[in-house]
Amino acid sequence: MDSQYRRSSYGYFDDNAREYVITRPDTPTPWINYIGQEEYFGIVSNTGGGYSFYRDPRYRRITRYRYHSIPIDQPGRYIYIRDAETGEYWSATWQPVKKPLDFYECRHGLGYTKIRSRYRDIETEVTYFVPLKQTFEVWWFKIRNLRDRETDLQLFTYVEFCFWDALDDMTNFQRNLNIAEVEVEDNVIYHKTGYRERRNHFAFFASSEPIVGFDTDKEVFIGLYRGYENPIVVEEGVSRNSIVYGGHPIGSHQIRLRLKPGEEKEIVFILGYAENPPEEKFIAPNIINKTRVKQLLREWLNPDRVKQAFEELKKFWDDTLSYLHVETPDEDINRIVNIWNQYQIFITFHLARSASGYETGIARGIGFRDSNQDILGAVHLQPLWSKIRERIIDLASIQFPDGGTYHQFQPITKRGNREIGGGFNDDPLWLVASTIAYIKETGDFSILFEKAPYDNTPGTEEPLYEHLKKAVMYIDRNRGPHGLPLIGHADWNDCLNLNVMSTNPDESFQTAPDRTDGRTAESIFIACQFVWAVKELAEVAERIGRKEDAEYFRKLVNDMIERVKKYGWDGEWFLRAYDAFGRKIGSKENEEGRIYIEPQGMCIMAGIGLDDGKAIKALDSVKKYLATEHGIILHWPPYTKYYVHLGEISSYPPGHKENASIFCHPNAWIIIAEAIAGRSEQALDYYKRLNPSAREAISHIHRTEPYVYAQTIAGPASPRFGMARNSWLTGTASWMFVAITQWILGVRPAYDGLMIDPRIPKEWSGFKMVRRFRNATYVIEVKNEEHVNMGVKQIIVDGQPIEGNIVPAFNDGKVHHVVVIMGKKE
Ligand code: BGC
Ligand code: NOJ
Repeated sequence: MDSQYRRSSYGYFDDNAREYVITRPDTPTPWINYIGQEEYFGIVSNTGGGYSFYRDPRYRRITRYRYHSIPIDQPGRYIYIRDAETGEYWSATWQPVKKPLDFYECRHGLGYTKIRSRYRDIETEVTYFVPLKQTFEVWWFKIRNLRDRETDLQLFTYVEFCFWDALDDMTNFQRNLNIAEVEVEDNVIYHKTGYRERRNHFAFFASSEPIVGFDTDKEVFIGLYRGYENPIVVEEGVSRNSIVYGGHPIGSHQIRLRLKPGEEKEIVFILGYAENPPEEKFIAPNIINKTRVKQLLREWLNPDRVKQAFEELKKFWDDTLSYLHVETPDEDINRIVNIWNQYQIFITFHLARSASGYETGIARGIGFRDSNQDILGAVHLQPLWSKIRERIIDLASIQFPDGGTYHQFQPITKRGNREIGGGFNDDPLWLVASTIAYIKETGDFSILFEKAPYDNTPGTEEPLYEHLKKAVMYIDRNRGPHGLPLIGHADWNDCLNLNVMSTNPDESFQTAPDRTDGRTAESIFIACQFVWAVKELAEVAERIGRKEDAEYFRKLVNDMIERVKKYGWDGEWFLRAYDAFGRKIGSKENEEGRIYIEPQGMCIMAGIGLDDGKAIKALDSVKKYLATEHGIILHWPPYTKYYVHLGEISSYPPGHKENASIFCHPNAWIIIAEAIAGRSEQALDYYKRLNPSAREAISHIHRTEPYVYAQTIAGPASPRFGMARNSWLTGTASWMFVAITQWILGVRPAYDGLMIDPRIPKEWSGFKMVRRFRNATYVIEVKNEEHVNMGVKQIIVDGQPIEGNIVPAFNDGKVHHVVVIMGKKE
């Protein structure tokens, strides 16, 4: 290990291996990773905690996990090791036994986690991963005897099965404690609870080594009033061969090993999801069909096959990450951009906000706004293109004929929630944004003509383009007293709920959902978002020959810009909103919440205020009032009490979440705005405050994983200032990636090619980027010999100077060398 990498007392980055190496198990929060690429996913923490699910973390939960458990982060994928001679036992992953290990190391890699440990000269290594295209996970286990004598060892595996519906599993005990059923055959434990109702699915847990015993009943395995740390079966070293019938089903194999001095043994455990063949689904055979599982196990209970699959997984990531790779003078940028940020984007694209250490997989469906934004950072990954295309059409299908959308929806039913008091009125515009990002990346305008229904109602199909038009019309139609967009229930800031139903602003009252009056709160954020997105849509309309639409869109955009300038400017910054009583929010007239981050970023991204000094003024105000050493807070001052007319935003204590924490997602907008305004150093400075690797040295303050972004970091008003929460599943992942690659490094897809317009600090002499774009590879070398912070003097493509700063889309499968000379034009 290169010692320069070790900045934290919890671990270090191993960039060559693309791993984060955790060197002690007691991290400030469970530091998790994901396994799975497509349908079967699992969460694995650095001590083996976590659970698995097939496609849907609510309805197809395979194993159980207890959020809020004490000790934290239990149960998981456990392997107990017992010295048969002394009776001593410990865990390969530290938890749950928590014996002080002589050596511990967890390596979180891309799609796998490897935990190594040593106790009294018995060394183990377990690698958890899901082979590509498979619906099972592998525990690839190695054990070595470093003692100078033969040792008699027992291994006990442990998983705790979930009754499939994760919410029901936690609540419906009167039924659930009577339904568990398993079968054990040929070393394989089958969990088949629910099969009687033609549920068609079951789980299996298998071992490549012959077993000398097993257990499937939790109560029998653990023993009454004991815990995962001291199960009676492990303590006594005697499996009970229990067959659960009602109660709590588990899977535990016992394996006996006599290892000679220096001897190593490899064992494969497979935990998987299976379905009866479709033709058997509705005839209720009342049996689980094991044929396919048996076939599969014949192939996979084999360390060589597993090793090969592990190599294939590595190759998948080599390929996935080869679409964008940078070499800059800054190692935090290189590591996060090249590895971890792209990995996090891959996970947010697949899992939205469903299952993490903070999302239980049962509370919310897929967010319309979230999923569209997740696409913004994922579009460069060509292996995902068809899925992204499909996702955009799926998202369009949950739109209503009036242009509004469900806010969240279940992937299976494609139905969801729409708030009383109007929707989240920013939602429809995010569909415009994701479509445009997709088109710019792929050049594929044909998506606009792909048909999607409204509210998933057959017969209502229209081309995506019409859906986008309806999104525009929805905003245009729903405007308030200043002609600005109505906010509805909320906009991007879910907690800014300005439409409380009373005529008396000072009165405490309850919301009255049946009242429709007073819902006149307006959002300057949406106004700017409208300009930002619809400007682009006008260009797209033009390019597909819809000239009239283009003109109509531009007229609306210009009108909106005028309104923002007139009613959306507070003197030193952009206002946030007007409440239902027409009062300003995010204004110097307010006592609390005088300035908000979102409109400062979005208005400037929309190009507003660049010509008249407003942008710079607004950004200066952000710096003065909102910027902290840990990032930029959402608004200032925080709300010190609950305001009925503001809603959930004031329900949090000052400094947390939407009440003036450092909400990381809109930080990216300020970074982009600073880059647009040409203040490159400031843009990078803000970026670095949130770059997870740059915060690694303060892991003891930051607390969540140093390899991924978190949604929120406590603001200065909180006694936990600097502490992150809600890591992994956040729009921050995509937006930070867009900010650094497209706006700071300045390489961004345009309709006709790759635009290059870096905004880097003067002291950089340049950087390199390899970008695979529309079936060609661009090896881009940016030279900044004049040490400017913006400005492209000349671009040379394959030895030939080009006009302007858009490198053409060659689409020829070849490698093209692009030299970008920065400097002042003569
Ligand atoms: C959280 C928001 C989140 C919303 C989703 C709120 O409680 O503070 O961050 O977007 O729930 O429904
Ligand atoms: C988290 C939600 O997932 C996202 O959609 C929302 O914009 C932010 N919170 C801000 O409220």
